[in-house]
Parts: sequence; structure tokens; C-alpha cells
Amino acid sequence: MTDTIDEQVNQYKTMIDQRLGQVFDAETINPRLKQAMRYSLTVGGKRVRPILMLLTAEAFGTDIEKVLPVALALECVHTYSLIHDDLPAMDDDDYRRGELTNHKKFDEATAILAGDALLTYSFQLISEAKGLTADEKVHALKRLSEVSGPSGMVGGQMYDLSYEDTNITLNQLEQVHDLKTGQLLIYALEMGAFLSHQPLEVVDAMKRAAAAIGLTFQIQDDILDIIGDEQALGKKVGSDVLNDKSTYPKLLGLEGAKKEKQKFVDETKHQLELTGVLNTNLAQFVISLSDRFS
Ligand code: IPE
Ligand code: IPE
Ligand code: MG
Ligand code: MG
Ligand code: MG
Repeated sequence: MTDTIDEQVNQYKTMIDQRLGQVFDAETINPRLKQAMRYSLTVGGKRVRPILMLLTAEAFGTDIEKVLPVALALECVHTYSLIHDDLPAMDDDDYRRGELTNHKKFDEATAILAGDALLTYSFQLISEAKGLTADEKVHALKRLSEVSGPSGMVGGQMYDLSYEDTNITLNQLEQVHDLKTGQLLIYALEMGAFLSHQPLEVVDAMKRAAAAIGLTFQIQDDILDIIGDEQALGKKVGSDVLNDKSTYPKLLGLEGAKKEKQKFVDETKHQLELTGVLNTNLAQFVISLSDRFS
């Protein structure tokens, strides 16, 4: 990334971190639950999804403040998905975002509830957003429930678990990655465009770009689970092999996974070009994500 885009992304990240630190301030919440929700939400995280939403809004000249509550809601859903993903019944991981996982810091029951609470709080955040019309809120809520629910992220997590210790096809694996990771990323670009009043064909092209970004992002996550640096990642590597997960490197080998990833990077660029946003901070950020090491 160039200095300018670096600066812009850092500025958005700081803004997101700051707002996430304030989200439950006014709420009456059981203190332990609040502590557990806040712990996972503020302990770290790259904030890729909300940054993508803000960069999309920026690419279409929309006021960032309008989109911010929806971006924060998306980060709440993502953080909940990570808390549950790390539970002993799922991937059984002890570290996340450079710190102990929620169930290790607190306990399993608290982690389950903190996840539930972050998910439901995301809907509250959108419902209460000041700068959105009622129609915009309904659509943002509808799509958030779709991308995170049984036909989205949760469905993908179920496939991911049921494909442990089995051999699956490349098409099946692509479906898992699209659902468990792609759908939330789709929401980021889709909402950035939708809330910028872009025509349906532009919103659809952004969704196609984001689908390719999602696959790139999860393939890189699979690659980093083998060759990544634990310190930089803030989570243990080797979790996938330990759980005999179906991943791109397992199916195609490391080099094959890298080649497959490049295919989706090219597809992303193509889709962004079609929407005329190839020369934006959004495109630069997206491309930098494909070689991320954290
Ligand atoms: C991790 O997501 C889980 C995946 C879907 C690959 P991130 O890599 O965005 O994790 P954080 O938010 O930075 O912790
Ligand atoms: C997680 O995929 C996707 C989610 C919906 C949370 P992974 O299980 O590969 O994510 P990490 O590697 O634990 O972050
Ligand atoms: Mg998992
Ligand atoms: Mg995991
Ligand atoms: Mg992983």
C-alpha cells in the first residue's frame, strides 16, 4: 500500500476502534457479560470488514458517518463468530487477536453468551442508527441476517465442521469458504454501495468482487495457518491440521493454493474495474489483503 492509503486505512481503523470502545457505554448489561463482550471486541483485530465498508462508501463519495453504525454492527457479528469458532466444541483454540480466547479468559458459558449478545447487539446498532432511513435499516438488517445466518456464515461453519476428517471436492471447499467467510465480506462492499444509492447492477458487481475477495481472504487464512507467524497473526498456527480441516493447502498443496488464490485476485480486479473503482483506495486495500501476513 502507498503512504496515502496506509494513512487513510489507519485513520478508519482508529475511528472504528474508538467507536467500538464506546458501543455499550449507555447500556445496562450484566457486568460480566459486558466485560466479556468488550474484551473480544476491543482486544485487537484488523477491522478488515468495517474498513472495507468505509472504503466502499468513500469510493462512491458517501459520508462515512452514515455507514459507520452498519460497519460496527458487521464487526460485532464477525467478533461473535470468532468467539464461537474458538470454543472447544468447534476449533478449540486458546489464542485470538494476540490474547487468550474468550472462553479461556472467562469460561465457556460466558463465551457462548458474549457471542450471542454481540450478534443480537448488532441488530440493535443498525435499528438505532441515526443517519439511515427506515427502508435502509430494514434492508441492512435483512441482509445482515442472511449473510450471517443459516444460508451464510453459520451454514458455512456447519459445513466446515462436518467436512473435518473427510475428503471433499474443490467445489465443495469453495462453497464452505464462500459461506463461512465470503458472505460477511460481501455484506461489507454491498452495504457500502447500497447505502451510497448505487444502482442494482453496481451493487451486484460489488458483491461479485467481494465474493472473490472472500475466497482470497480465506485461502490466505488457510495458507497462514501453515506458514504464518503466530506473533503477527495473534493466533496459533497448525490449528487446521490438528483438526483435520478441509483447506485449500490440504486439497491442492501450498503452491496449488497460492495459484488458486491468484485466480480470485484477478477476478476481484476484473470486477472492480467493471464498476469503475479500480483506481480507488478500496481497490488498493483489497489487493494488499491477498498477501497479508497478519
Ligand atoms: C479471521 O478473520 C477469520 C476468518 C474469516 C479468516 P480476520 O483475519 O479478519 O480476524 P481479525 O478480525 O483480524 O481478528
Ligand atoms: C473461521 O474460519 C471463519 C469464521 C466464520 C469464524 P477459521 O476457523 O479458519 O478462522 P481462524 O483461522 O480460526 O481465525
Ligand atoms: Mg473454524
Ligand atoms: Mg478457527
Ligand atoms: Mg483459519
